[in-house]
Amino acid sequence: MTEKLDEKEQQKAQDKPVAGPPQDLKDMAELVSLCKRRGFVFPSSEIYGGINACWDYGPLGIELKRNVKERWWRAMTDRDDVEGLDAAILMHPRVWEASGHVEGFVDPLVDCKKCRNRFRADKLDPAVIAAKKCPECAGELTEPRLFNLMFKTHMGPVEESAAVVYLRPETAQGIYVNFLNVQQSMRQRLPFGIAQIGKAFRNEITPGNFIFRTREFEQMEMQYFVKPGSDMDWFEKWKQTRMQWHLDNGIRKEKLRFHEHGPGELAHYAKAAFDIEYEFPFGWQELEGIHNRSDFDLGRHEKFSGKKLEYFDEAAKERYLPYIVETSAGCDRSLLVALADAYRFDGERTWLSLHPVLAPYKVAVYPLMKKPDLLEYADKVFGELKKRFRATTDETGSIGKRYRRQDEIGTPFGVTIDYDTLTNHTVTIRHRDSMVQERISAENLTRYIEEKFEKWNG
Ligand code: GAP
Repeated sequence: MTEKLDEKEQQKAQDKPVAGPPQDLKDMAELVSLCKRRGFVFPSSEIYGGINACWDYGPLGIELKRNVKERWWRAMTDRDDVEGLDAAILMHPRVWEASGHVEGFVDPLVDCKKCRNRFRADKLDPAVIAAKKCPECAGELTEPRLFNLMFKTHMGPVEESAAVVYLRPETAQGIYVNFLNVQQSMRQRLPFGIAQIGKAFRNEITPGNFIFRTREFEQMEMQYFVKPGSDMDWFEKWKQTRMQWHLDNGIRKEKLRFHEHGPGELAHYAKAAFDIEYEFPFGWQELEGIHNRSDFDLGRHEKFSGKKLEYFDEAAKERYLPYIVETSAGCDRSLLVALADAYRFDGERTWLSLHPVLAPYKVAVYPLMKKPDLLEYADKVFGELKKRFRATTDETGSIGKRYRRQDEIGTPFGVTIDYDTLTNHTVTIRHRDSMVQERISAENLTRYIEEKFEKWNG
């Protein structure tokens, strides 16, 4: 059988490196294809031709996403000064007037009367707008029109304007309107934060780059309520804490940077803002925003609801409206960064060098052949490993091919059960990134993997 394979296939079957040094992801199309092929992300409603900028997470994608969310949730709510929340997506429509989204969450759009392409006027060259000439076909452009990015729907059976509600464009507002509920029910004192993970919806004009900008996405937002005057200190602390979180996900340091918002870039609510940016194949782009929102949000909600949202500081016998420091990360975007950063290709082998805390499976078990005694032993090993790690098995194809399949989905370790295992109870453990193989006692497997994960350094 092996003789029939060409040289490259033979090397593959024997799990030998065949090509040059690992290269990073160059083209998003490679990642999109891997994600589809290996069950991470599928185009939404694919059998109907798909729907623009909507994606479905497959079995491995959802594991990876859950790992991202779990890490974020633990990093936030394991702290004594942060509480969790899960607010409704549909909120009172006045919320979005107070937040500024009804009035201000708009993009100016121009349409080409000839080719029907639509552009964001603020992204076009001012000369193009002045000449009203389409950059694609030189056809005539319409006047800019303001387009609100919120999705509207109706509550109840009557489709009238009084029943209009919005799909939330950010999770933050659910936190602001619950500020006193959480503070009082949990007897929290300032400074403290509220963390929430949830879906958000934006009718983006220019979605794209796979799951980078979509119309339905998940945010992981934390709003930290502080005494005015201490806001810039907390802003600095949270900037560093959030950067460290991304580094602890195994993202390479040189691919991350801060970008400070200049006066022209600051959102209407922000006193100061930094983005954490990642260098994607399509350039440096925002991954997370850290904002000093001052007392803008609570002040607006007081005004629009007519309810006091002040905090009473018992010790100082003072009453005041807290300032808010926000950390706002995209869940899908963090997942995309994890995948893009982990992608490696050496000319022949593709692997995801995912940090074990994010990898969908931590270990795979392979019986060398489909022989009853090997299968039985493998089953026993799998059962033991499963007690401690998310694990998988693969019994089909050459051992090299099985390794490669797991490499492509980022499984850090592979364990092979062969005939020696049956006599001396040792197994081969293979490392995903280096392809190094070691022979260790089957009994020590769990401890061995635990130790490697504890000391993981990429
Ligand atoms: N509450 C503040 C806020 O929503 P934002 O900068 O508009 O701020 C925060 O969004 C994060 O949410 C972004 O850094 C990004 O990771 C994610 N995000 C925003 N729009 C997105 C979209 N259309 N698709 C995917 N993720 C998005």
